[in-house]
Amino acid sequence: MEVYDTIISRRTIRKFKQKPVKLSVLKRLVNAGRLAPSAGNLQPLEYIVIADGIVREKIFPHVRWARYIEPEGNPKEDERPMAYIIILINKENLLVPFYKYDVGASAENITLAALEKGIGCCWIGSFDRKKIKNILKITDDCSIDLILALGYPLEDPGYYDIEKDKSIKYHKDNSGKLHVPKRKLDDIVHIDHL
Ligand SMILES: Cc1cc2nc3c(=O)[nH]c(=O)nc-3n(C[C@H](O)[C@H](O)[C@H](O)COP(=O)(O)O)c2cc1C
Repeated sequence: MEVYDTIISRRTIRKFKQKPVKLSVLKRLVNAGRLAPSAGNLQPLEYIVIADGIVREKIFPHVRWARYIEPEGNPKEDERPMAYIIILINKENLLVPFYKYDVGASAENITLAALEKGIGCCWIGSFDRKKIKNILKITDDCSIDLILALGYPLEDPGYYDIEKDKSIKYHKDNSGKLHVPKRKLDDIVHIDHL
């Protein structure tokens, strides 16, 4: 698939097949992440890869899913992520506020590289930082910035364009399919705007 088509087809996935994601594949995804642009090339990001079922079950209760449709958007017990990639910031090597761009670029590289392998992803910014830091025994020189939940998709969400001032809240239809509203291209692109 062309990169553009991969980008367009990506949607956040929150229901996963209970099929393992190989460690070699997860390391390949981190490799795509580490080669993303980095402000000042400081590269403050580090990554924890979690594939082990026991660790996954410890993480799961401390992340929050799809808050506009809670609890309907939560993965059920047999739909939970099969892996996580946790993006850490090494605080000793930080260019504030630019490191946030590093996180976004790295996370998107990982997301798209995953999609190329048929793996879905949900970015999770809403989680109990203290609890997960303790579970993973993360030292004080690092903080957790973003969690990527991963696995082979068990859902196929779509998007639709919305008129200005319409709700940006995603919803599920009667069949359980998730629909994500997106602001229209013509409403947000400004050509030769002086
Ligand atoms: C920085 C960031 C944090 C997010 N945090 C969460 C989260 O904590 N839980 C969740 O279910 N989705 C989270 N999302 C996913 C968004 O809800 C999702 O991207 C949005 O609804 C648009 O849907 P789409 O990704 O399918 O285009 C996050 C996305 C971003 C970019």
